[in-house]
Amino acid sequence: MKIDTFKVEEWFNEYEHKARYDLGDTCAEPFSINELLEFCSKDNKTINEIFAKKLNYGDIHGSQRLKKAICSLYTKQKEGNITVTHGAIGANQLVIQSIVEKGDKVVSIIPTYQQHYSIPKSLGANVKLFYLKEKNNWLPDLKELEHAVGVDTKLICMNNPNNPTGAVISDDTLKRIVEIARKSNAYILCDEAYRGLNHCDNHFSESIADIYEKGISTGSMSKTFSLAGLRLGWVAAGEEIIKEINHQREYNTISVGILDDYFASIAIENKAKIIKRNIDLIKTGKQILMDWVNSEPKVRCVEPKGGTTAFVGYNFEMKSTDLCKKLQDDTGIMILPGETLELDGYLRIGYANHFETLKTALEMFSHWMNKNI
Ligand SMILES: Cc1ncc(COP(=O)(O)O)c(C=O)c1O
Repeated sequence: MKIDTFKVEEWFNEYEHKARYDLGDTCAEPFSINELLEFCSKDNKTINEIFAKKLNYGDIHGSQRLKKAICSLYTKQKEGNITVTHGAIGANQLVIQSIVEKGDKVVSIIPTYQQHYSIPKSLGANVKLFYLKEKNNWLPDLKELEHAVGVDTKLICMNNPNNPTGAVISDDTLKRIVEIARKSNAYILCDEAYRGLNHCDNHFSESIADIYEKGISTGSMSKTFSLAGLRLGWVAAGEEIIKEINHQREYNTISVGILDDYFASIAIENKAKIIKRNIDLIKTGKQILMDWVNSEPKVRCVEPKGGTTAFVGYNFEMKSTDLCKKLQDDTGIMILPGETLELDGYLRIGYANHFETLKTALEMFSHWMNKNI
């Protein structure tokens, strides 16, 4: 199967290890195992349980305990609606390859994680890119979306909260998107890897799986729980869809690691505490970022409402890849160019950790722009 280069991941491969100031990271400060256990008030009994675990395959589609915990993140999902995967990246891959066939029409709302358009394209689908716009606060114009979806779409791919823009689609708008999908009897894959990280009092938006019978939610331990190293995600969807996904899944997953399953269960069981910790970190970082944006006339940014990233526009002519290469060569600051997300003229900045680095790098970036632009 031929597939396009995954531009964001390739950029990381090339530039992240050389960065002195890494503003590419999308995770709030990750937990160590010790910190996680302390944070979740676990005692010696838990540690003994971990060391006594037999490292067999474990429960093939995820342990009962984990699936029960995952269901607690939704209003209507039961254990039969869940399958556990290798991260949200594994979940997205399985969903798309289970649904999409050659010639199918797929509408992908971008900017987004590249899986959502490059995998369907590689399967021979007719992929229509639907661009979100800064002037709409990075939210979809529903009339335009309705026109793009029409009555012949098999799958709509979206991401809420959105990486890179930090936009959050309201529950009402999500319901209107479902109405648009119904006209095509289309599936909606909503990548909800950042769900639980809305910055307002209600951290969880509605999940597509809870409001639409053909809605498929992919989720993850990486962002909301700061446990990317577990490499654990899931799909939540109707039982028939999960059956199809498991049919594909037999060929690429078997099971996730038994320790990953165990730590994920503990973390989700303590979701309120972990999410509060992460939202506090996110709000600290967002303040630093927005203070800088508001004081720097060469840039602008729609304030992110969810997740850990912002999509910062700059008010001068330069290709974003050229800007990011030169900036990193000159200063060691790594920022992700908008071109890797199909939108030039923007930069993605992760702001949820290493606040001293963030502050210093943004000041240095201003100096650099004053000198070079
Ligand atoms: C929107 C989105 N979906 C999926 C992923 C992959 O997440 P995971 O670490 O769970 O595989 C990412 C990672 O950055 C992401 O930003």
